Amino acid sequence: MERFSSKTVIISGAGAIGALAELGPRRLFLVTDPYFMKNGMARQVVEASKAGESEIFDGVEPDPTVDLAARGTARLRAFGADMVVALGGGSAMDCAKAMTFFAKGEMRLVAIPTTSGSGSEVTNFAILTHDKIKHPLVDDRIQPDYAILDSDLLQELPRSLIADAGFDVLSHAVEACCAKNAGELSGIYAREAFRSAYAALPASFAGRKEVRLKVHLAAAMAGVAFTQAGLGLCHAISHSLGGMFHVPHGRLNAILLPAVIGCNAHAATRQYAELARAAGMGGSADTIALRNLRSGLVRLRQELELPQTLSQAGIPPRAVWSQVGAIVAGALGDPCCDSNPVKPDDFLVRRILEEVTGRG
Ligand SMILES: NC(=O)c1ccc[n+]([C@@H]2O[C@H](COP(=O)([O-])OP(=O)(O)OC[C@H]3O[C@@H](n4cnc5c(N)ncnc54)[C@H](O)[C@@H]3O)[C@@H](O)[C@H]2O)c1
Ligand SMILES: [Fe+2]
Repeated sequence: MERFSSKTVIISGAGAIGALAELGPRRLFLVTDPYFMKNGMARQVVEASKAGESEIFDGVEPDPTVDLAARGTARLRAFGADMVVALGGGSAMDCAKAMTFFAKGEMRLVAIPTTSGSGSEVTNFAILTHDKIKHPLVDDRIQPDYAILDSDLLQELPRSLIADAGFDVLSHAVEACCAKNAGELSGIYAREAFRSAYAALPASFAGRKEVRLKVHLAAAMAGVAFTQAGLGLCHAISHSLGGMFHVPHGRLNAILLPAVIGCNAHAATRQYAELARAAGMGGSADTIALRNLRSGLVRLRQELELPQTLSQAGIPPRAVWSQVGAIVAGALGDPCCDSNPVKPDDFLVRRILEEVTGRG
């Protein structure tokens, strides 16, 4: 039996932020990072909303901490909003989601993603860091009421952000397709998200702005898929490494994903093969489709100029092996492990780390 629902209303297309005014906010609290304060977009969004009163919290930093969310919560409580709007990437959206959760008031949550990656605009997840550990907060109350996918916000995306966030989308789709709670409907979303992102990412990276809405929609589709199905070991290890070394989340996923597919392959051959075929990388036999999926991801990783190893991403082997106990414990303690198709253990995590560490 599969239970599938997604409460988030998705409004997409060029100029979609104009729809904010139709939602009629009276007291709007905007959560964003300093980049969007500086370039004027935060003020533009507030003006587009036509809210009577507004306040902007622009203190979000990549990989938000529990302390940061607590500071924002205090400001939100003091202001008393009827609508919270998150403007930014996964970090701004996760911070806003946590703040509405801790503030406990009656307020609508609107997410306006500016990266095509986390899918946080439609998920019931928020990731907060505390003491160098990333903790997923999972609760249906933090799933945004509205997601506004405005392609105008994607025109100036830096190439490295397209690549990092793009591999977050692909890893959500790959993990959702074979996660423990995957079903027919979540599989359809995962495969279509993968197909669309895999096809459009090279053109987006090369500067073709007209394909960016496709990747943006794929990010949301993958978010819908993994909210239902769950994630897996790639995210568990990525969270553990990301909390310690502060390397962008999608970049870590890009390094880990082919190795994780290899380790899960015996338990998820059919799902991986279906995913490969959806993206035009199939083969007559499942084993060939599976091999093509891994090699296709490695090729795309090179094309998007992403690191192939942790060492190339600035995490030298000595840093990995001197803290391997904590990295493994962090990964095995992450809730994403629970939905991985193979039950992960210490040996499996170390095997993946050996494959991705690279040379010092
Ligand atoms: N909640 C979820 O379901 C979920 C899922 C996956 C990842 N995450 C989390 O999301 C975070 C990563 O999110 P992200 O990849 O979107 O990056 P991000 O939000 O951390 O942003 C990275 C940097 O990009 C900048 N930026 C954002 N949009 C930009 C734009 N349009 N132009 C120029 N610069 C821009 C930001 O200012 C920031 O400095 C991680 O903390 C990860 O753990 C959450
Ligand atoms: Fe992710």
